[in-house]
Amino acid sequence: MNRNSESFGSVETIAVSFITVLKNKSVFAYLGVTNNGWLMNSKKIKWGFIGTGWIANKFANSLKSTEGSELYAIGSRSIESAKKFAGEFNAPKAYGSYQEVARDPDVDVIYIATPHNLHCANTLMCLESNKHVLCEKPFGVNGKEVRLMIDLAREKNLFLMEALWSRFLPNVIKVKELVDSGTIGNVKLLTAYFEGKSDGGPEHRHFNIDLCGGSLLDIGIYNVFLSLYLLGSPERFKALAATGSNGTDNSIGILFKYPGDSLAVLHSSFMANTPIVAEIHGDKGKIVMEHLWFCPGNIRLIRHDGTEELIKFEFKGNGYNYEAQEVVDCIAAGKTESNIMTHEFSLKLIDMLDAIRKECGIIYPKHDL
Ligand SMILES: NC(=O)c1ccc[n+]([C@@H]2O[C@H](COP(=O)([O-])OP(=O)(O)OC[C@H]3O[C@@H](n4cnc5c(N)ncnc54)[C@H](OP(=O)(O)O)[C@@H]3O)[C@@H](O)[C@H]2O)c1
Repeated sequence: MNRNSESFGSVETIAVSFITVLKNKSVFAYLGVTNNGWLMNSKKIKWGFIGTGWIANKFANSLKSTEGSELYAIGSRSIESAKKFAGEFNAPKAYGSYQEVARDPDVDVIYIATPHNLHCANTLMCLESNKHVLCEKPFGVNGKEVRLMIDLAREKNLFLMEALWSRFLPNVIKVKELVDSGTIGNVKLLTAYFEGKSDGGPEHRHFNIDLCGGSLLDIGIYNVFLSLYLLGSPERFKALAATGSNGTDNSIGILFKYPGDSLAVLHSSFMANTPIVAEIHGDKGKIVMEHLWFCPGNIRLIRHDGTEELIKFEFKGNGYNYEAQEVVDCIAAGKTESNIMTHEFSLKLIDMLDAIRKECGIIYPKHDL
């Protein structure tokens, strides 16, 4: 992992931290003295959370395995929910609104864990309050929103990253290394599936058009991410969605055509439970990313010469800690963007998702029009 602990006390880090302190009051006073005399970042970075749902809970647990930070403040539409969540994770502050988290002078970075329709507005509010931001995927619901978010972060010189946790997982990174090194030869076919039957009703964020629901932005995004990460942008694509009466996609199938004779076949659905696997087939072998491929897991490398290798990984925490650690390390180093999950990649991803939605006629009236 990109855990950069050695450089915490480096001259470069100290210089960058001083500059950040001068530019940005919200990251004030990270400097202390280590027992070997080096200055280092000694203050823990304080997280504020916006939203107290399923992923907020997972991410809060992951902070237990993240060095150099602490869960400090929880914001919810309901003070009861905020207090319950804060109590469970020993966070000192609980607020009955999102704005109060953004206004808390002791919060350094805010994790946004709300439905898709709120990502852009919540991020802009936090950046306006001079907070660094980690925002759940999809970053915004369209390219227009993502550009607004990135522009404001740059203007304010604040850290901003899309929380696409799979990009930081050692198994996913290993697959990229195997593909890039030519271990399976030239890639001819990538298949990535992500289905999960949703029990939510029409108001649930999975199906609610006002909350920018649909399988593509919720789970299909992982399939698109994998293809872009491993193979880059396709030269052509086709997509077809099965939309419900509310206009969101219940299921979607996507084909990416790459130069030469390479194809990616991607599908996602809220209508069925199927094995959530991804496979990358080359002309010398294949890589199988086992069930729940987007999570911490094993991969199998099967060569055409008949040899098979199971590649296992030792994971720390629940997996979300890898992206959390990147955020903490970047902020401590005075960086405003991750070198791993870059703004450029987030833009490439949302532009692809926009193009797919356009092809399928999926429109979020309150955001796209
Ligand atoms: N990275 C991952 O592995 C992963 C996994 C699941 C979801 N996600 C992403 O995380 C985000 C949240 O997903 P989730 O599964 O945690 O959803 P969830 O359980 O429904 O939680 C969403 C939270 O957002 C807040 N909220 C604000 N307005 C809302 C509204 N109108 N309806 C419902 N909730 C509202 C609520 O918090 P308060 O009541 O406290 O205000 C709610 O608890 C989405 O962007 C999703 O794509 C990521």
